Amino acid sequence: MGRRALPKINPTIDYSAWFIDGKQLPDDWKLASLFAKDQPLEIEVGTGKGLFINSESGRVPTHNYLGIEIAQKYARFSASRLCTSGRTNAIMMAGDATALFKKFVPDQSLAAVHVYFPDPWWKKRHRRRRVLNPHFMRDIERTLKIGGTLHFWTDVQEYFESALADLATSTYLEGPFEVAEIAPEHDLDYRTHFERRKRQLDLPIYRSEFRKVKAECCAAPLVSLEESEGIDDPGMSSDDSAMLDFEGESQLEYDATTIDSTDIDDDNDGPNHITSDDRSRRDTLDD
Ligand SMILES: C[S@@+](CC[C@H](N)C(=O)[O-])C[C@H]1O[C@@H](n2cnc3c(N)ncnc32)[C@H](O)[C@@H]1O
Repeated sequence: MGRRALPKINPTIDYSAWFIDGKQLPDDWKLASLFAKDQPLEIEVGTGKGLFINSESGRVPTHNYLGIEIAQKYARFSASRLCTSGRTNAIMMAGDATALFKKFVPDQSLAAVHVYFPDPWWKKRHRRRRVLNPHFMRDIERTLKIGGTLHFWTDVQEYFESALADLATSTYLEGPFEVAEIAPEHDLDYRTHFERRKRQLDLPIYRSEFRKVKAECCAAPLVSLEESEGIDDPGMSSDDSAMLDFEGESQLEYDATTIDSTDIDDDNDGPNHITSDDRSRRDTLDD
């Protein structure tokens, strides 16, 4: 299946009420001020083209939804979808979810966190860049209310297994609970674009759900990611802002016009970069 460009946002749409740039927020900004109605809040990390946030916010109007997407163009695209759908309970924020959680998401404030098909960062030395790492898992645990849920799906078995092992040692979240695969009723009846793409290629999907059952958060020491992975590069310093700054076309070949996140370039281990053995597994976020 070929790559498809991200459709252009209709220039006549004013989606500004559905879009926030996380970098522009003052330090004292309050998440609680975001939505008109005070109702349970769910956050999706890495919304891509926004299929989940758009459909789920329509399905559950009694909850609020915040999508955090590091790639500006995708955050804007998803915001324009929410605007077109007339959602009053869903907003997109551009920025790095790990930093934004730390800064703006209060303890025990979320009903759910959704992480679907996060970038795998295939090379071992780059795995510390994975968004679902033990530090962020701790922050998810901190920000969930009792009874709140974490939803993590991926098609990368190794990421799935290592994240589940890390969740068991780094948090007190209960799980994993199994999540059944549901037969789609129409062409866009999938959780996300990536799920759709993978299932159309008949690839397995690994789904899990976790629940926060106690107020206390796990305080066991975290093995630093550098130590656990034998990291041989300096990782994410502020100098790497370009790496995770998807303002426009990033150097990661995470092409902001096509988001073919497994773009093949053997010299560039982009977020979803895959080895030549994996060439058959080209992903796109087309729809
Ligand atoms: C592989 S795509 C999956 C998109 C969508 N969840 C889906 O399943 O179709 C991963 C997405 O996560 C975003 N992302 C990566 N790191 C992020 C971070 N730290 N904060 C927010 N979004 C991030 C990427 O820009 C990309 O859109």
